Amino acid sequence: MVKVAIFGYGTVGSGVFEVINKNNETIQKKLGDELQVKYVLDLRDFENDPVQDVLVHDVEIILNDPEVAIICETMGGVKPAYEFTKRALESGKSVCTSNKELVEKHGAELIKVAKAHNCSYLFEASVGGGIPIIRPLITSLAQEEVESITGILNGTTNYILTKMELDGADFEAVLKRAQEKGYAEANPEADVCGYDAGRKIAILTSLAYGKNVDFADIYTEGITAITKADFAYAKQMDSTIKLFAKSVNKNGKYYAMVAPFVVNSENPLSSVKNVFNAVLVKGNMVADTMYYGKGAGKLATASAVVADVIDCAKHLGKHVNIVWEDEKLEISTIDSASRRFFVRVASTDKTAIEQNFGKVEFLESVSADECGFVTEEMTESEYKAKAAKAGNVINMIRMD
Ligand code: HSE
Repeated sequence: MVKVAIFGYGTVGSGVFEVINKNNETIQKKLGDELQVKYVLDLRDFENDPVQDVLVHDVEIILNDPEVAIICETMGGVKPAYEFTKRALESGKSVCTSNKELVEKHGAELIKVAKAHNCSYLFEASVGGGIPIIRPLITSLAQEEVESITGILNGTTNYILTKMELDGADFEAVLKRAQEKGYAEANPEADVCGYDAGRKIAILTSLAYGKNVDFADIYTEGITAITKADFAYAKQMDSTIKLFAKSVNKNGKYYAMVAPFVVNSENPLSSVKNVFNAVLVKGNMVADTMYYGKGAGKLATASAVVADVIDCAKHLGKHVNIVWEDEKLEISTIDSASRRFFVRVASTDKTAIEQNFGKVEFLESVSADECGFVTEEMTESEYKAKAAKAGNVINMIRMD
């Protein structure tokens, strides 16, 4: 019997309790041993919930119990999760987590601690919820030079963009509805400004290249400036608009960014709707591989945590190796990245527009006092200079 403890009985923690109990027989068959939740740590009490039988309020009980081999850290946040995780690993207990903030900030260090104490620090649930993406990246694609990762890694913004497209509504109206329905947080900043997706692409990029990507080095743009007019133009291009979290390895340089992109219907990521997430990983040998599923939610995220628990249980007393060195991965600024740009300007003077932006492909204007067009390929810094010279840009969205 493998004894497990859960830190935090919130949405994900209660999901882990449910997955382990409901699928106990299936897990036992595949693991060849039984998983049992010995403790759940939470400050609160949960009367009339079966968790009450295993609930403890003091972390020391768990950390000092040699029977506990694996801990699921589903508390979220850095404090006190960092300290609890480090102490658990130092006492040889493996830790499986959904805590992307902690993984992004201290992943490399905690893997090192786990290695030194013959246990594991696994975090499949920290990116893409229930989608298997971390394990494929570090095992199935270990032989690949990863050329690019492109992900729809935030369910809230994908839901908002999907509704804007389908209902022809503006950002604020859809956000309000999403908040009323509980799909978006009361404070939606981390989602709509792209920070959540930025943390997730920082983790995936660190794993793809084995070195530490600093979230602060990632250029991040959210979806707050996208309007229904942008979607009307995208439709003319047989495209939609998606918030992409991207990293690219080109000519020995690494780029990473989060921003809205105009995505053609031929790109499989264009059909990822509502709260679903997907990740497209391009390897130099295998070419495109894609991973799709629920990027959030109680049971989907808990399922990924339990997958890690099973991996740890199969490797008790050993370290499941993840290459993620503390050394910093230099991320180049996006200024030299080259692409086409979809631009709207407050002018109808097509000659002046081409004087400012070079040859462009004009779209049918969606209002009388503006023009929408797509530029030829140019670098970000070239685009910036042209836009500053024109001085009348309403909005710009990068072309995928
Ligand atoms: N706020 C996140 C999202 C939750 O909307 O995808 C999962 O990390």
